Amino acid sequence: MNIDFQILGSDTEGRGQMDVMLVAVKKDVINDYTNVIKEAGLNPVVIDVDSFALENMMEINYPVTPGENLAMVNIGASITSISVILGGLTIFTRSIPMGGNQFTEEIQRQLNISFKEAEEMKTGKKPESESESLGGAIESISTNLTFEVKRSLDFFLGGSQGSYVNKIYISGGSSKVAGLQNLMQEKTSIPVEVINPFKNVETNPKHFDPDKLKEMAPYFGVAVGLATRRFADR
Ligand SMILES: Nc1ncnc2c1ncn2[C@@H]1O[C@H](COP(=O)(O)OP(=O)(O)OP(=O)(O)O)[C@@H](O)[C@H]1O
Ligand SMILES: [Mg+2]
Repeated sequence: MNIDFQILGSDTEGRGQMDVMLVAVKKDVINDYTNVIKEAGLNPVVIDVDSFALENMMEINYPVTPGENLAMVNIGASITSISVILGGLTIFTRSIPMGGNQFTEEIQRQLNISFKEAEEMKTGKKPESESESLGGAIESISTNLTFEVKRSLDFFLGGSQGSYVNKIYISGGSSKVAGLQNLMQEKTSIPVEVINPFKNVETNPKHFDPDKLKEMAPYFGVAVGLATRRFADR
């Protein structure tokens, strides 16, 4: 294991105790990631946890209001990670093994097509030929995913007296699934917004087409958070 920690608060009550955040990751996992980066000819200098990277991304783009609780739901291809940020600090995280692949697999199963074709349909690259089944498949997985998110939030809220979540920010490629944002908002009764990690990031329109950047923004939550880090910072 690689282990790292950060002291979160100093001992204000003279009890000789303090809050410490501890992160432990299997060396194998770290090696897999660093090898990919090295093979691409790059030199990794900082390793971070995706939910912390998202928290840093939020910090530069969405200033926190004291006492405001946010939930971040990062919906990738195989994993959805949920974290609750209370007054700027992550106090709860959970990962569920669900994501974009489930949508694609369900479309694939219902329409009896290849994964590749299903993926193209899901992302709107292929004109919808059987839009009813497509919509049905997307809705059923969206409902399952939303249910899992709601269960996690209820679990957190149940164990933490008087807490509530004011807003859910969704990110990751699968936050772009058609109708997911509205469905999640409806089923959780909490406002749901798709994050824009470039909200407060200055970009040069000569180098980055603003429309393209807007379209791709949800993919870059973790990446922008990582980009806020520097070698040997804390
Ligand atoms: N326009 C779109 N509509 C629906 N789904 C999309 C769209 N664009 C990308 N996706 C899906 O988003 C997923 C990839 O998102 P992302 O890049 O956040 O995942 P990842 O970080 O690679 O995965 P993980 O975090 O699970 O390891 C894929 O399942 C892809 O099909
Ligand atoms: Mg991801």
